Amino acid sequence: MASLSSGPRHGATPDRQTVMRVFIAVELPETIRRKLGDVERELRPSASSARWVASDSIHLTLKFIGEITEARLHEVDDGLAGLTWRPFPVVVRGVGFFPGARSPRVLWAGLTASTMENLAQEIDARMERFGYEKEKRAFRAHITLARAKNNRLDSSLVQAARKFEDAEFGSFTVDRCSLFQSTLKPSGAVYTKLKEYVLDK
Ligand code: 2AM
Repeated sequence: MASLSSGPRHGATPDRQTVMRVFIAVELPETIRRKLGDVERELRPSASSARWVASDSIHLTLKFIGEITEARLHEVDDGLAGLTWRPFPVVVRGVGFFPGARSPRVLWAGLTASTMENLAQEIDARMERFGYEKEKRAFRAHITLARAKNNRLDSSLVQAARKFEDAEFGSFTVDRCSLFQSTLKPSGAVYTKLKEYVLDK
């Protein structure tokens, strides 16, 4: 929780101008991340142009905020701290592609939880009050496993992924969400959890 807990809340320290790339996400239990990591390992040889998400970084994004100054991070914190939501069950099942199997750019694992969309919309609305742009596209809950390095993922990956089309990866209860920082590195993005918010207060 480095950045949110340190330093004075109000006051013009240079740190408060530091820009951070942040997003709000649901973490997955380790058992599910491990299963999805196994899927990645099995599919990896079928793709030559994919950037795979490291299994301990696999998550479900509720809202991508983007680059904000550390000073503004406290607004996001306030918005999330005041959010109450009844815990709900999620089943992680199946894999698919965005925007579709014919032009695959993202390989994802799917989930069943209609409430997730409502939660994402509530967070979106809360962030809009602080001036963050509302999502233009409809929220589609997904867990990204791989992204195309260039244009699109290999068709051999689409073929190989069929095996997992309806596979079940486990279930869990969503009772919290987390604020993450994403640091872009040549080897890929590194995600750091800044703070966790229990939803059932
Ligand atoms: P994705 O899994 O669908 O790519 C950190 O980058 C997280 O924020 C990722 O899970 C990513 O979702 C999500 N995200 C949503 N919109 C984004 C954007 N415009 N740029 C980068 N990441 C975005």
